Order: sequence, then C-alpha cells, then structure tokens
Amino acid sequence: MQIIKVEGGHTLSGEVYVEGAKNSVLKLMAATIMAPGVYRISRVPNISDVAVMSNVLRELGAQVDRIDHQLIIDTSNADGYSTPYELVKKMRASIAVLGPLLARHGKARVSMPGGCQIGERKLDLHFLSLEHLGTNFEFEHGVVKASAPNGLHAASIYLDFASVGATENIMMAAVVAKGTTIIDNAAREPEIVDLANFLNKMGAKITGAGSPVITIEGVSQESLHATDHETVGDRIEAGTFVVAGALCGDKVKVRGFKPEHLGLALQKIRQMGVSIEYLEDGVIVSKPEHLNAIDIQTLPYPGFPTDMQAQLMVMTSLAQGNSIITENVFENRFMFAGELIRMGANIRVDGHHAISQGVTKLSGAPVASTDLRGGAALVLAGLVADGTTMISGIEHINRGYEDFVGKLNQLGAKLSLVEQEAALDEE
Ligand code: UD1
Repeated sequence: MQIIKVEGGHTLSGEVYVEGAKNSVLKLMAATIMAPGVYRISRVPNISDVAVMSNVLRELGAQVDRIDHQLIIDTSNADGYSTPYELVKKMRASIAVLGPLLARHGKARVSMPGGCQIGERKLDLHFLSLEHLGTNFEFEHGVVKASAPNGLHAASIYLDFASVGATENIMMAAVVAKGTTIIDNAAREPEIVDLANFLNKMGAKITGAGSPVITIEGVSQESLHATDHETVGDRIEAGTFVVAGALCGDKVKVRGFKPEHLGLALQKIRQMGVSIEYLEDGVIVSKPEHLNAIDIQTLPYPGFPTDMQAQLMVMTSLAQGNSIITENVFENRFMFAGELIRMGANIRVDGHHAISQGVTKLSGAPVASTDLRGGAALVLAGLVADGTTMISGIEHINRGYEDFVGKLNQLGAKLSLVEQEAALDEE
C-alpha cells in the first residue's frame, strides 16, 4: 500500500493544467447508454472513478477504450440493465445509470450504493421524481428494481433540495418521456450544464440548464444518436491547486477551467488576502504576507462548493483570527478536521459548524485521508507544514485527482509515493 510523503516548506511556481471534471464525465459516460452508437469523449481524467464507471458500462455490454485522455465508448450492444453491487459499492455515482437505463430499456436493476464517509447520502429525491415520470420501484435485498411498464411520461417536479445527482437522473430519464418535463429548484452546477449540452447533441431538447428551472421536451428514444464531446474543466481540481498557490505559491498559474465556475470560492480566497489574477481559462495565484480569517458556508452552486470546504479549512487553520465554517450540504464532512488537528490546527467541530482559530504553523505528522477532498486537503497542509507529512489512504485521492503528486512536484513541491512499511520504518 502506497502513501504520499510530503516535505513541507517549498515555494511553488509555474503552471498546472487541470483535467476534465470528474463530476461531469461520470454522468456523460452514463448518458451514452441512452442511445446505441460510438461516442468519443475527450478530456477524460485518468482517475479511478472513471475506471469504475468504465467497468459499470462494460457490465452493461458496452465497449470502453481509452486513448490518452479520450474515451471511445461503443454502446451498440449495451443491452444489459443490471449493475452489480461489487461495482456500485466502489462509487456512489454509479446510480447515474438509473435514468439512462430507464430511458433506453424502460427498466433497470441497480444495487443500492449505501452510505459513505461523508454522510448517509439519501437517494429519495431520485426515486420520488422518477416515480412522477411513471417509474415503479421495488426494493429487495439491497437492489432497486425499476420499471416503467407504460413508458415514461412528463411531469412537473419540484426538488426539496437542489440535488446534483437527482437533477441529472431526472433530466436523463425525461429526455424520452412523453410531453414536457419541468424540474424546479434544479441543481445549477456547471457539470449539469455540460450534461445538458451533451444530451442536446444526442438529440434531446433541454433548455434552462444552469438556472433553477430546467425544461425537457420529450423526444423518441429512436431519434437519439451518439455524439462527440469535450468535458468541461474540473473547477474543484483547479480550486485545489489555487489553494496550494495561496498557501505557498509565487505566481502559480492554474489553467484549463473557467474562473467563473469557481466564483464564490475565488472571492473568499481573495478576501483572505490572496492575490488572484484572472485569465480567460484560469488564474494566477500568489501567497500573501498573512491570511485573514473568513466565514464560509457551503451551499449548492453558485454557493460555496462543499467540495472546496476541506481545502479552505487548511487555509483558515493558518489565518489570523477565528473562522467559522458551516457545512450545509453533507452531514458528516468534517472528519478530516481531526487529522488536521494532529498537525497542530486549532479547530473545534460542533455539529455542522467548525470553528478554526488560526495558528502560526502546522507541523508534519502521519495522517490518514478520510475522503477524496479531505485527503487532498491533507496534502495541501503538508506543503506548508514544518517537516514531513505522511498521508495514508491515498486511494481516496486517486478517485478524483490525476497524478496529484506529479502535478505538485512540477510546481516545485517535494512529494513522493512510498510503500507504507518503508515509510513507517523511517519514523
Ligand atoms: C455531487 C458530487 C459531489 C458534490 C455534491 C454536491 C458527483 C459524482 N458528486 O454528489 O462531489 O459534493 O454533488 O455538490 O457529481 N440528498 C437527499 N436525497 C437525494 C439526493 C441527495 O437527501 O435524493 C442529499 C444528500 O444526502 C446530500 C445532499 O442532498 O446531503 C447533496 O447531495 P447531491 O447534490 O445529490 O450530491 P451528489 O449528486 O451525491
């Protein structure tokens, strides 16, 4: 088992280019099930979540090949409609095949993904909304059996919460539902817009994606066809490198994403005293003399992204004064704070609030990553900490960051991948 070893205290500079967005490409891949044919999706990150979704598609009968950053997906013979627990348990986003399977086959048999480290992560909005579109559900032995015996029909759906996954599943199923479906209080993330653009290229009629009301005029399943697409840039990968620059950068250029997709997060980072120069496809970031404390509350887009919460917590741990971080999207997303405290941070967690009182320095320690973004944040903490930080549980980081170690080293950091036992021997 490998761990990441970080030698703290090096100044970062130069340029890093982000990959296509994990949270978009997984759904684009799922959408290829909807119409048989050969799809070419470019800018696909080489991360383990994409490998899992490739296996989900293969299980359904698709052929999936990667050439560098392009995926070629042939769904001509994707006649399967059942996904096994062995794959689904590895990645909750596999639930994104539910809408596409209903659209193509009128039925689906999907294992329930279960909870995960950051909370219970319910799926009730997915099921309730798909029921409105004419789907019947049976839940048995951890498996969801879905069927639309009379075909899918349009509905007006108001989501209690602007859930990303529910918006996507409804949007995909509604593409072939008879009539016009309206999703009110829809999620507005850039990845939703990317998926809607992809579906429209396939022949769907979707308007309003990126706003709270999405309208989907149903088309026949036979009229849909395969298409090519370039994935939108990963704003969260970008934001993670922005924080690296804010902590220890001297003109770190982060490119390959639209700065407006990270609007509020960049504004908060600037309010902490960091200088950010905006480019058309990225930003240039440098570390300030000192960081100011800040209050943050996570909310659905365009609010502050929950996927940037851990990275900003590292910044607040070194800021002058007290910061309050409120997590509104997930129930249990402060687990990594315990690891940061082991590195000397002064953070108190009370329910969905964390109070971070800035300290003058963090010190390297062995720490364990608890989830994807928490793991990345621990690496960021290691960059500024005194001495050496050893991060275990890096399979979480590999789910969402392509070559995180290599990209940071290219900026001048000193990271290495080492076998866990060897690393412990050195302590
Ligand atoms: C997606 C992203 C994840 C991001 C999150 C919020 C992917 C693969 N993952 O996750 O990185 O952090 O959006 O921006 O795209 N909820 C319900 N019932 C439901 C659905 C959701 O109560 O039916 C709750 C969840 O428990 C959670 C909250 O809503 O507390 C947000 O979930 P949702 O927006 O659906 O996130 P995901 O699509 O799972």
